[in-house]
Amino acid sequence: MYNEGRSSRLMPLLKIDNQEIEVKSGTTVLQAALKQGIEIPYYCYHPALEVVGSCRMCLVKVEGMPKLQVSCNTYIGEAPEERKIDGKFDMVVDTKDKIVVQEQKNILEFLLLNHPLDCSVCDQAGECYLQDYSFKYGNAHSRFDEDKRVRANVYLGSQVLINHNRCILCSLCVRFTREISGTNELFVEQRGYNSKIATVEDNPLDNYLAGNVTDICPVGALLSTDYIHKNRIWNLNKQPSVCQDCSVGCNVDVFYQKDKIFRLSPRENHDVNGYFMCDIGRYGFHRYEEIDRITSPMLKSNGIFSEITWAEAMTKIVDEIGLNDGNIAGIASPFHTNETNFLLGNLIGNVIGILPEIVDEELQYPSGFRISGDRSPNKQGMTDVCPQIMEAFADKFDKKNIKLLYVLDDGIDRKLDKKWSNIFSEMNLIIVQTYAMTEIAKSGDLLLPGLAPFEREGTITNDRKRVQWLRPSLSSQGESRPDWEILTTILNELSEESPLFTDLSQVIKAMGESFPKYKDLSFFKIGMNGLSLNGAAKD
Ligand code: SF4
Ligand code: SF4
Ligand code: FES
Repeated sequence: MYNEGRSSRLMPLLKIDNQEIEVKSGTTVLQAALKQGIEIPYYCYHPALEVVGSCRMCLVKVEGMPKLQVSCNTYIGEAPEERKIDGKFDMVVDTKDKIVVQEQKNILEFLLLNHPLDCSVCDQAGECYLQDYSFKYGNAHSRFDEDKRVRANVYLGSQVLINHNRCILCSLCVRFTREISGTNELFVEQRGYNSKIATVEDNPLDNYLAGNVTDICPVGALLSTDYIHKNRIWNLNKQPSVCQDCSVGCNVDVFYQKDKIFRLSPRENHDVNGYFMCDIGRYGFHRYEEIDRITSPMLKSNGIFSEITWAEAMTKIVDEIGLNDGNIAGIASPFHTNETNFLLGNLIGNVIGILPEIVDEELQYPSGFRISGDRSPNKQGMTDVCPQIMEAFADKFDKKNIKLLYVLDDGIDRKLDKKWSNIFSEMNLIIVQTYAMTEIAKSGDLLLPGLAPFEREGTITNDRKRVQWLRPSLSSQGESRPDWEILTTILNELSEESPLFTDLSQVIKAMGESFPKYKDLSFFKIGMNGLSLNGAAKD
């Protein structure tokens, strides 16, 4: 709070709507107001983009200035002593003055001149700033009796459609392609009445970050072709979670209804992804829709799988582990949670490998946003909690003693090379814990149905050592069970002590006891933004 007795302040003193606050020099009036919980409507401002001050929606009255000022482009600094207002304020701002309220109405009337009244069919309805501000700050009626300008919809890229009639020319999308993706596909074509968003010739909006423009567009002008007319926002549930399509681990909101995902949007986290996500992750959930799921335990006999009960599967596993005298090998997975890999390590002991890694091109954007070449979400966590994993497992594996293989399958259909096929062919029994009938599942003998990515709960650790909370959005299918629970059941069956673990939090606790980096971990501590294992708040 401002100290009357201080002769020289470190921070300028702002009076805004009769509230006195100290702010960092160089803060804009809009930022200061938002931080203080004072609402100023705005369109063209985005905290990650250059300020242009073009929409005029954020006008405020600043004492001593002849005209209203755009609050997103008005910076607060220390005024010389003789120019301080009431002897102490560096700036005095009114966001609710009569003239501000009138200007807000005027701006909205102007923005709506050519805007169609199509909220009822617009995908943005329910989360549209034109709709919300018109209701809160606009006029109930328009004086515009002329015909509205009508333009046809245009595909800007394969996944983004523009409805020009709804565009308010805030230029957020243009600045995104200049400053965040650095791909420069969009620009404002023509001037004045003829202005419209267009792509630079022969350069469609098809970069891996393109989907973000549909999130930042404040109105229903930019539409994702993947979601258009599929649902309404008020029908959907929102679950905060983490993308599992690369080792960055972007924070996301999963929007779903009745066990079907409709869309993914980035969730703000400045320690991971900022405000954005890539299209690989955004549309990645579709992979799981058509997949050939395994929904009950299955045993192969004469080359044919038949369903069995969980009790039969458990009996078979316990008998086989006994018969093979503990000579078993395991395959951990960077696609599974820390808890599942930790439990696999407990079950198997020392002979553990991983399947060939899934890698692709590493992409780095000018804004610092990156898509990792490691397309698995949890290699860091897997190696932390399963440190016995052997490198080049298929080369070093001595199959003489090992006759039972337990595979945590990652659900990815891949062909195994000769070395791996040889390992598989030498086994007496291959147990595959999986959610899909992959090539690996097909080569197994006993299949245990686990959960698919958006059904799982647990922790994963990204490649900057941030542990994040994976929350489920969809329910499990058929007889399938959480992967940690399957391994826990086996461990409990094999243990002389009665149940080792009965729930996920006990597994997390045990993991922390074995691996001190993960000590005292809990979902509560991980929270929405994750927890860094580097010991600092930031990675
Ligand atoms: S399309 Fe959307 S983000 Fe782009 S200028 Fe128009 S309103 Fe703004
Ligand atoms: S960068 Fe990686 S984690 Fe982020 S959205 Fe893309 S695939 Fe998902
Ligand atoms: S948000 Fe300030 S002018 Fe647009």
